[in-house]
Amino acid sequence: MRSPLTNPFQAGSDIVPDVWAGRFEQLSDWRDVLRPRRNAGLYETGRTILGEPGTGKSSLVRRIARDAAELGDWATPQVRMPVGADPLKLVASAVLRLADTAGLRASSRQHVLQLLARVEQVAISGFSVTVRGGEGAEPSTALFELLVELGRAAIEQGVVVMIHIDEVQNIADEAALSQLLIALGDALSYEVEVTAPGGVVVTRFLPIAVYLTGLPDFEDMAGARKGATFARRFRTTTLAALDEGALLQALQPFVVEGWETAAADGGVEIVRMSREATKAIAELCCGEPFLFQLAGQRAWNASDGATISEDDVVSGWRGAESEASAHVERILNRLPSGEQEFINAMAALPRDDRKLTVIAQRMGATSAPQVGAVSRRLDTVRGIIDRGKPYSFRNRAVEAYLTTDWPRVG
Ligand SMILES: Nc1ncnc2c1ncn2[C@@H]1O[C@H](COP(=O)(O)OP(=O)(O)OP(=O)(O)O)[C@@H](O)[C@H]1O
Ligand SMILES: [Mg+2]
Repeated sequence: MRSPLTNPFQAGSDIVPDVWAGRFEQLSDWRDVLRPRRNAGLYETGRTILGEPGTGKSSLVRRIARDAAELGDWATPQVRMPVGADPLKLVASAVLRLADTAGLRASSRQHVLQLLARVEQVAISGFSVTVRGGEGAEPSTALFELLVELGRAAIEQGVVVMIHIDEVQNIADEAALSQLLIALGDALSYEVEVTAPGGVVVTRFLPIAVYLTGLPDFEDMAGARKGATFARRFRTTTLAALDEGALLQALQPFVVEGWETAAADGGVEIVRMSREATKAIAELCCGEPFLFQLAGQRAWNASDGATISEDDVVSGWRGAESEASAHVERILNRLPSGEQEFINAMAALPRDDRKLTVIAQRMGATSAPQVGAVSRRLDTVRGIIDRGKPYSFRNRAVEAYLTTDWPRVG
């Protein structure tokens, strides 16, 4: 008997869900490019992963960190930036914990012990602190130097240091943000000398990988705040909706061998899902990771039979309609008015007519370049539309919400 207690779907935030879908490109980027290259001493930029609320940014990088920890890497937990928090403080604390893992406290080198003490000061007082000691007085310098020591220790152990800073859009203090990015960026591009087999001295980069995640608003904090070095040292990807194939693939284990779950008697029970049910979930959630979990969770709880049916999906979804609407409204309401207008004008047009000139006309816009800039943002920064020929919605939930009865089901 399936019960809410054994439900594998998790519609919350900051979770690595048991029923995982897609994001193969990003997982492979870590596994096949970023980790092996930094581990080998080669250069790779940091990664910035942005996306609208609920696209699975935190889950993705938490999963990468979990996989890294399983390999023995030193990964920070997700360092979440609350609004108005001092980023240097939080990152310093997280890096100190990694230093503990690395055993740096047991170092016999005076320099390392002094450095730990300086970073401890930063962790307490943050950006505002003036760390005593002349040279390297900036708190970001102390953080950078500790990262270098941590990187050296990681080289010896053959592991990678992985740092995940989440909700980066909340870092409001320009100077603090730039200090943080400088410390991280400098650590990424720092080269050390190591002795290769055969006694040859070579230079290499440190085995450090940095992930920044957050809302696309972070992209607007460009220019002066982040500086040109940011653009060079971090590469940005925008997460958009999951495609239907990935969703069906994620549900395939339910169809083929069944999902194993704990039974009341302590044994194992198998829960299956009909193929129609998987299709219904994939369709109703419109590719939104959060709604995918919501649809699955409600379908699971809709009855207690051994097979989740299409009826379970539909009746479960009925109880989740208002949550689904709220999810889309959260995305739409955050948009600046120009972008909202654009989306509404685009949605009101028949699919084939969704071209920039037609949308601009509909908006009554006098300046086409201005509308062009808005549409570019909605595409590259937010991942909500795709400026193909014609324009289309990448966020299928937004499209469904604006153009159909969705999330209502018949
Ligand atoms: N690849 C995935 N496959 C299936 N479900 C996912 C996936 N990624 C995330 N989810 C689910 O989506 C929901 C939202 O994920 P997450 O909290 O990571 O989003 P987010 O982009 O960080 O949102 P926010 O902007 O609100 O912080 C969670 O319920 C999570 O379980
Ligand atoms: Mg998040």
